[in-house]
Amino acid sequence: MRVSSYFAIALLEATAAFAVPSWSSSHDSALQLRRGLPNKVSKRPNHPIAPHHPGKRFPPSSPRTKTCAVKSHGNGTDDSDNILQAIKECNNGGHVVFSRGEKYTIGTALDLTFLKHIDLDVQGYIQFTNDTTYWQVNSFKHTFQNATTFFQLGGEDVNVYGGGTLDGNGQAWYDLYAKDIYILRPILFGTIGLHGGSITDLNLRYSPQWYNLVANSSDVLFSNITIFGGSVSKNPAKNTDGWDTYRSSNIVIQNSDIDNGDDCVSFKPNSTDIVVQNLKCNGSHGISVGSLGQYQGEVDIVKNIYVYNVTMSNASDGARIKVWPGVSSALSGDLQGGGGLGSVTNITYDTMAISNVDYAIEITQCYGQKNLTLCNQFPSNLTISDVNISNFHGTTSKKYDPLVGYLVCSSPSVCSDINISGVDVKSPSGTNLYTCGSIPGIEKQVNCTSTNKGAN
Ligand SMILES: *[C@@H]1O[C@H](CO)[C@@H](O)[C@H](O)[C@H]1NC(C)=O
Ligand SMILES: *[C@@H]1O[C@H](CO)[C@@H](O)[C@H](O)[C@H]1NC(C)=O
Ligand SMILES: *[C@@H]1O[C@H](CO)[C@@H](O)[C@H](O)[C@H]1NC(C)=O
Ligand SMILES: *[C@@H]1O[C@H](CO)[C@@H](O)[C@H](O)[C@H]1NC(C)=O
Ligand SMILES: *[C@@H]1O[C@H](CO)[C@@H](O)[C@H](O)[C@H]1NC(C)=O
Ligand SMILES: *[C@@H]1O[C@H](CO)[C@@H](O)[C@H](O)[C@H]1NC(C)=O
Ligand SMILES: *[C@@H]1O[C@H](CO)[C@@H](O)[C@H](O)[C@H]1NC(C)=O
Ligand SMILES: *[C@@H]1O[C@H](CO)[C@@H](O)[C@H](O)[C@H]1NC(C)=O
Ligand SMILES: *[C@@H]1O[C@H](CO)[C@@H](O)[C@H](O)[C@H]1NC(C)=O
Ligand SMILES: *[C@@H]1O[C@H](CO)[C@@H](O)[C@H](O)[C@H]1NC(C)=O
Ligand SMILES: *[C@@H]1O[C@H](CO)[C@@H](O)[C@H](O)[C@H]1NC(C)=O
Ligand SMILES: *[C@@H]1O[C@H](CO)[C@@H](O)[C@H](O)[C@H]1NC(C)=O
Repeated sequence: MRVSSYFAIALLEATAAFAVPSWSSSHDSALQLRRGLPNKVSKRPNHPIAPHHPGKRFPPSSPRTKTCAVKSHGNGTDDSDNILQAIKECNNGGHVVFSRGEKYTIGTALDLTFLKHIDLDVQGYIQFTNDTTYWQVNSFKHTFQNATTFFQLGGEDVNVYGGGTLDGNGQAWYDLYAKDIYILRPILFGTIGLHGGSITDLNLRYSPQWYNLVANSSDVLFSNITIFGGSVSKNPAKNTDGWDTYRSSNIVIQNSDIDNGDDCVSFKPNSTDIVVQNLKCNGSHGISVGSLGQYQGEVDIVKNIYVYNVTMSNASDGARIKVWPGVSSALSGDLQGGGGLGSVTNITYDTMAISNVDYAIEITQCYGQKNLTLCNQFPSNLTISDVNISNFHGTTSKKYDPLVGYLVCSSPSVCSDINISGVDVKSPSGTNLYTCGSIPGIEKQVNCTSTNKGAN
């Protein structure tokens, strides 16, 4: 797994020399740049994938040879036409600049799945409108967990960077969700069907729901992203996962700072060959596999996941694997499931610093089902095996003290080869006890207690 930076550089090195504006271009927007709009073109950043790499080399990114500046009305009216125009002009080999100091407003759902060999240099500030009626009708619908996105960015060889901000203007959504849990809150950043690319050096703020959905994608690097947003009213910003990966492989999420209110990163169905490393997560629900097995008869596969060097503070969980039981169950009005098939295999959590976290480690196959008798009666059809958790240290919260973790499968026949070692996590009162159930050999690895409370 440990790989030299040789791998990493390949992604971005190709173009550093070309990442300056091509002044000789006769392109309209380039001319505008020359006439003195306050634009500087960012050099495409180089973020080595390190220290771990999912294995498969990322494809190289070709040079960009023209530049298009995005115009902004600057007064809160929709800039989507300007954005689309610049992107279309610069697709296939260009560099689109959202200028530093400019504010852009997006009030139209943008389908950007046609992108090819393009860099989006977001130096400015992009805010989505809070027209909740418009977005619920027009956002992109992705079926899985009723996920919707403001835009969908996909295609081939796309790099997004620039140090700017995408602001989801979430307050109106947090308040509306408190009144009606069935509203469709858009996800801020939809990476949908992207094959080859990087999304780096960006600030994501106030997403109405998850910050990132990465679906149907491969060979994508996320690096140096900051995530922050909360509610100023009494209605919390709920379900604000940092990243959710779905039907995607060879994805890296690294070197980022996340302050949110749900999973920091979550591996949803068919997430394979993924590395998550060097993250600081605050206020989250941990780094989660799942939830899986939600849809009756569907096959969910999560495999080859490496989570390394995460700082986890003020969270409900550190490492978490959540699987729905074999029986249909409801977590809440807008989240129910159970009866799905599949497998979770080859998952590593290596090195996590825990601070004020409710459970350092949580494995459940009874997600959404509080009645454990019922859960055990209908064991999950989704197996968990080859899970390695090591080098955790720190202190949990008071919430489940004296417990520090919860390790419960629905039957010993569906959980195997779960290895926990080098875990030095204590509760505030100094104990290191775990609720254990139906995991073969677990009592040799941690201090189990028969206490059985706090199933999530
Ligand atoms: C915003 O600016 C554009 C031109 O830049 C103008 O056409 C439009 O009327 C302005 N809208 C408002 C609400 O000020
Ligand atoms: C992904 O691809 C599948 C198959 O082409 C398609 O049905 C689905 O809508 C796409 N998007 C998502 C988010 O899964
Ligand atoms: C999607 O939303 C509908 C109602 O709007 C709800 O009944 C259903 O449970 C939701 N599906 C999921 C998977 O959350
Ligand atoms: C991370 O991105 C910020 C801009 O958002 C930039 O100032 C900083 O230099 C980047 N850090 C690294 C290590 O590239
Ligand atoms: C909608 O967004 C605008 C622009 O940021 C803001 O002024 C307004 O207060 C927001 N409305 C609500 C209901 O959040
Ligand atoms: C772990 O991640 C932090 C950032 O959260 C970084 O500063 C540190 O260098 C990383 N340590 C190792 C050993 O990679
Ligand atoms: C971390 O989360 C806690 C509790 O959710 C919050 O009080 C604190 O301000 C956050 N810290 C940072 C650095 O975001
Ligand atoms: C996940 O992969 C399995 C095995 O290839 C396939 O049967 C299943 O339909 C896929 N599920 C989704 C949601 O794409
Ligand atoms: C397990 O996953 C790691 C990445 O986390 C990968 O390097 C390794 O090859 C995988 N093992 C198997 C047997 O696929
Ligand atoms: C839990 O499930 C068992 C088995 O189906 C049932 O007998 C019992 O009444 C249930 N308990 C509660 C509190 O619903
Ligand atoms: C799934 O599990 C349930 C309960 O454990 C069982 O009754 C059912 O036959 C299983 N379904 C499949 C397709 O394996
Ligand atoms: C169980 O707890 C005792 C006392 O704290 C400790 O010495 C021992 O290492 C623990 N066992 C495991 C497997 O963590």
